Amino acid sequence: MNVLAKQPSPFKPAQRLSAIGVSEILKVTGLAAQMKREGQNVIILGAGEPDFDTPEPIKDAAARAMRDGATKYTALDGSPELKAAIRAKFKRDNGLDFAQDEITVSAGAKQVLFNAMMATLDPGDEVIIPTPFWVTYADIVAIAGGTPVLVPCSEANGFRLSPEDLARAITPRTRWLMLNSPSNPSGAAYSEHQYRPILDVLLKHPSVWLMVDDIYEHIIYDGFRFVTPVAIEPALRNRTLTVNGVSKAYAMTGWRIGYGAGPSALIKAMAVVQSQSTSCPSSISQAAAIEALTGPQDVIADRCRSFQQRRDLVVDALNSIEGISCRVPEGAFYTFASCAGLIGKTTPDGRVVEDDTVFADYLLRAAGVAVVPGSAFGLAPYFRISYATSAAELRDACQRIAAAAARLL
Ligand SMILES: Cc1ncc(COP(=O)(O)O)c(C=O)c1O
Repeated sequence: MNVLAKQPSPFKPAQRLSAIGVSEILKVTGLAAQMKREGQNVIILGAGEPDFDTPEPIKDAAARAMRDGATKYTALDGSPELKAAIRAKFKRDNGLDFAQDEITVSAGAKQVLFNAMMATLDPGDEVIIPTPFWVTYADIVAIAGGTPVLVPCSEANGFRLSPEDLARAITPRTRWLMLNSPSNPSGAAYSEHQYRPILDVLLKHPSVWLMVDDIYEHIIYDGFRFVTPVAIEPALRNRTLTVNGVSKAYAMTGWRIGYGAGPSALIKAMAVVQSQSTSCPSSISQAAAIEALTGPQDVIADRCRSFQQRRDLVVDALNSIEGISCRVPEGAFYTFASCAGLIGKTTPDGRVVEDDTVFADYLLRAAGVAVVPGSAFGLAPYFRISYATSAAELRDACQRIAAAAARLL
């Protein structure tokens, strides 16, 4: 036996990791993947990425770049060619003119956020995050030494932040407000009209910056008109970071390209952070992203139609289950359904469904369907389904959920 293996590890994690746990999403999907490996019939509805492949012209552009020798470090926060493509995208899609030094490119939107928080937060600085929220926001704020301030958004208000709640949450320590539309996990999106009162509150607090995550911009349904805050209120432009990326719109999650647009002083500070972490985003992925942003865009609408059919399938099926209700999301590829009507019931093996975590665990073990409890996103009792999977699998999953719910007493 290896004696060394039994010795306690001298490893001691940094204090900054103390506020960060293993995400509930990873726990659920990890257990589900293990059950699958053991031969169980499990449907995992946890994916945060499109099930489509990256379009061929984008792959071709990457292959060409590789062959042509684009295999070296690029400019720190993005090649001039990609920055030009991003500026053209903001003009085309959002009617916004940004200068080259107002654009940053990173290894995913996640790194853009990370750079921004690392570049701006001092210990004790507060960041307002409406819930339900993408858990990464709070964890990045915590790693950067800030304090996440979670503000619950009710389903009655469409999971959107109310201006009154925002005004109440702002203190002299508030540095940022983070908004995400369409949202992961709720799929809720803000129209121009719904953004307006939020932006009016920000206008009254000139020291609060706005980080807006538009990564699901192109995955919207029923003719919803996407709009980004700086296009509504140009007065906020000098304190807004608009974050976006190619991961979701072009099925490019593995390529790791995200970008942001904001005041040049902020962009410069973010580049300092990036310079000592990843140096620059992958040169080959940057070439692929240029093709994604400047090439034919019709693939987006085609895929959106497919997502919408799947959204309708899931929402209808969930709403026909007693004890479950599901708001119709405007975008992204998630449903965030309430299981309030099932809380307090008992499973066939005698376990009380005390909360959404127990419910999600029951669905996984008794029905072989992996969903993520709403509490993992800061709002209970809900559960998130990612419908970025085949319609056949979604139908099967919904039938299993219905049967499992019917077995609760
Ligand atoms: C709301 C939101 N923002 C950003 C990201 C990350 O995007 P990227 O792949 O560009 O890092 C995700 C991924 O799940 C997301 O859900």
